[in-house]
Amino acid sequence: MTDQSPAHTVSSPSDRRKLTIAIDGPAGSGKSSVAQRVAQVLGYLYLDSGAMYRAFALKALQNNGLALSSTKELEELAADTKIELKATPPHLIAEGVKNQVLLDALDVTQAVRTSEVAQAASRVATVAKVRELLVAQQQRAGAGGGVVMEGRDIGTVVFPNAELKIFLEASPEVRAERRHKEHEQKGEHMTFERVLDEVHERDRRDRERKVSPLVRAKDAVLVDNTAMDIEETARLIVMLARERESELAKAVGREM
Ligand code: CDP
Ligand code: CDP
Repeated sequence: MTDQSPAHTVSSPSDRRKLTIAIDGPAGSGKSSVAQRVAQVLGYLYLDSGAMYRAFALKALQNNGLALSSTKELEELAADTKIELKATPPHLIAEGVKNQVLLDALDVTQAVRTSEVAQAASRVATVAKVRELLVAQQQRAGAGGGVVMEGRDIGTVVFPNAELKIFLEASPEVRAERRHKEHEQKGEHMTFERVLDEVHERDRRDRERKVSPLVRAKDAVLVDNTAMDIEETARLIVMLARERESELAKAVGREM
């Protein structure tokens, strides 16, 4: 957070230029909730790249006998799979409605939100060819700018030139507590210890994989929201975004 302009700087919409905002971080760090809120305030498109890995994992799980550890089988399956992310209608973003996810034209928006699918997603996400196919789609979906995309490799691989990159963190215990609460609300009963174990396991797999591991891009702003709620975290990111929008608009003005 160097090069700070005053926090109270107010810019009019005409002074601004739409950005590509990349939000990365581990499971339960608040990416989806925060990214959605930021997109809503800025009038940007919100895109959840993780939903695509979850959809592909769901297909692999449904494919009886397919080994999640078999790179070759996963590659073949990926080549024969169509996954589409549909933007959340603006009026539903405030209610936390996620992107609609279509797997081979079938709506799997709810079906991908189980802990089994989350674990499987982090396994299929280690396969380079699977990532290649999904990354290309993510780049197409966000190509126009004015987008907040969240995931693990958005600032490092999908949009390395994003004008604002955020690395969202929170302690593993708080992240597991958040996830545990969500599972309970959906009637998926698991002990806190099991959720914490799964968070640790997914962290390890996501951080240690060879292809596109979860790392903070050098130019990403680290935001630890262990002790912050969604609204506070989003407000901080919106403030950073408005500063970047104005800086870019001024730079363009100087060039003209
Ligand atoms: O997308 P990611 O896994 O990073 O996190 P999320 O799905 O946005 O958030 C996981 C849970 O934590 C949700 O139920 C959020 O409401 C909650 N959360 C929170 O209580 N405080 C935050 N600062 C961020 C998220
Ligand atoms: O919401 P949560 O943070 O729990 O997970 P998610 O964003 O839905 O992602 C599920 C899994 O997909 C992650 O654990 C990653 O292994 C993988 N993923 C990825 O590798 N790259 C992304 N850009 C997004 C997700």
